[in-house]
Amino acid sequence: MSDKNIKIFNDDNELADAAAKEVVALSDEAIESRGIFSVALSGGSTPKQLYKMLAGNRYRRQIDWSKTHFFFGDERAVSPDREASNFRMIDEVMFTNIADLPKENIHRVQAEQPPADAAALYEQEIKDFFRSETIEFPIFDLILLGMGTDGHTASLFPGSEAVNENLRFFVENYVEKLGAYRLTLTFPVINNARTILFLVSGADKAAVVGEVLSSGEREIKYPAQMVNPTDGKLMWFLDKPASSLISD
Ligand code: 6PG
Repeated sequence: MSDKNIKIFNDDNELADAAAKEVVALSDEAIESRGIFSVALSGGSTPKQLYKMLAGNRYRRQIDWSKTHFFFGDERAVSPDREASNFRMIDEVMFTNIADLPKENIHRVQAEQPPADAAALYEQEIKDFFRSETIEFPIFDLILLGMGTDGHTASLFPGSEAVNENLRFFVENYVEKLGAYRLTLTFPVINNARTILFLVSGADKAAVVGEVLSSGEREIKYPAQMVNPTDGKLMWFLDKPASSLISD
């Protein structure tokens, strides 16, 4: 992985705080240059602390929420009231605690619809937001990503069909190991972002982080290794336990 931009923090609280500072800085740049800040959020447990901080007293007032638009990098194919819903988690810890965030700036995946319909509806929402049916691929200012112990990112799981999708922006993706559909951005969109920020913490991720981030040419074994921004910046924020097996 060329020019790796890896930052290692003592624990996930320090990691979340650094990520919040990064989000504020990116929002300032985006809003100053383009009048808007578009973010695709990741689900799972790792980013929860970051989302809480962004809605907390230290950072909430540092972002112009009227110009900030939240999308979802992926979603589970469940209704928003289910515990597995990424929207539900993020709504509970962040959206409901930011009074200045207009509801229309939250672009929820209609994951209660049949997976193919949910994906098509969301792709259209992305096209409408970036205001063109003909753009090659949308350019998000920031895409937050996590990584599973199997090296999946967003809902691009090893061996799943969506990993090879190179035309559509957002797709339904059947995940064998889960026995369920997921809904996810595709690599052409992820790699078109201005900034991609991986947040990975915990000793259970050390082995896959070591394989993905250690130096030297490596075969592509994991979807996370396919994250390689065309023109944008790729950053990895790790806690010490997750980074313990990275070799130079
Ligand atoms: C999801 C995520 C997924 C997540 C990884 C890591 O919907 O679950 O988008 O890609 O980032 O599975 O999850 P944890 O942060 O819970 O380890």
